[in-house]
Amino acid sequence: MGHPRVDAVAGEARAAIGRAASSADLEAVRVRYLGRQGTLTQILRTLGTLPAAERPAVGAAANEVKRELETLLERRLREVQAAERRRERAAARPDLTLPGRRPPRGAVHPLTRVSDEIAAIFGGLGFSVAEGPEIETDWYNFEALNIPPDHPARDMQDTFYLPGSLLLRTHTSPVQVRVMQTQRPPVRIIVPGRVYRRDIVDMTHSPIFHQVEGLAVDRDVSMADLKGTLELFARQMFGARSRIRFRPSFFPFTEPSAEVDVVCFRCGGDGCRVCKQSGWLEILGSGMVHPTVLRNVGYDPEEVTGWAFGMGIERIAMLRYGIDDIRLFFENDVRFLRQLA
Ligand code: DAH
Repeated sequence: MGHPRVDAVAGEARAAIGRAASSADLEAVRVRYLGRQGTLTQILRTLGTLPAAERPAVGAAANEVKRELETLLERRLREVQAAERRRERAAARPDLTLPGRRPPRGAVHPLTRVSDEIAAIFGGLGFSVAEGPEIETDWYNFEALNIPPDHPARDMQDTFYLPGSLLLRTHTSPVQVRVMQTQRPPVRIIVPGRVYRRDIVDMTHSPIFHQVEGLAVDRDVSMADLKGTLELFARQMFGARSRIRFRPSFFPFTEPSAEVDVVCFRCGGDGCRVCKQSGWLEILGSGMVHPTVLRNVGYDPEEVTGWAFGMGIERIAMLRYGIDDIRLFFENDVRFLRQLA
């Protein structure tokens, strides 16, 4: 129709536009034909060098092709850009068929679990949970509990003393005193808590550990009640076939005093590594609350009697889970904690 050179350029350009797969391709095509140095631009710019007779026809043909290419480019650009946007959106859209990323699930620390279990067992017997301060006075931690001034537990070697005649409680027993001071009998409490002693860290010692204290005071409370309660506790804590035994012992705040052993849950009493061949595991100290302690809190030992016990939570947890190193409880390596979760 127009001019062979214009027609050739037009054909080439149409094909290039058809092949272009991206907006970048199209821009390259536009520059190649319609840009300042573009083939078609050159033709239009050099019209003046043509013989006068050819100029109008070539000029008209070139201008028509230019408009056509502009239209084609624009249309194709819209298509390509739409496709590009679709691809981008698809890439950005979350794949709803992928399995979700689960947040890591935490678990109750084994010491908390054992402590909660003990509290739950005694809760079922009508005991309520009481708590007291970790910073204590000498009176609550020692004096009121009938611990004499020269008792080895008061030694600087054993107790963390703080300025101002305060100390870090060495046991949960001072909470017995605090509760009895503010409450008339009957008293039935269980006291979980953190306690402190100046021990060097090793497999079985930590300067911070946990105890659970138990206290029952009422009219006519006897050693038999203590025994029955602890038997029931042992069966719930260590299994229905569990048995306990009382061994005479001494604590300044109880009279008589007893240490309580539970039959080894591993060998059932035959003797093994866990119980050091004895068949028994010591789990707590206990006894009848000393009359002096009752008097110290304003109770009349002629009217009421009581029993108390104290046990180490770490020790119970170690026996329970077969853990031989107390440090594992405090290092909080999640691999350890997860095993017990
Ligand atoms: N307070 C004692 C200790 O830390 C444990 C204890 C023994 C508590 C006998 C008691 C008890 O209440 O009656 O070793």
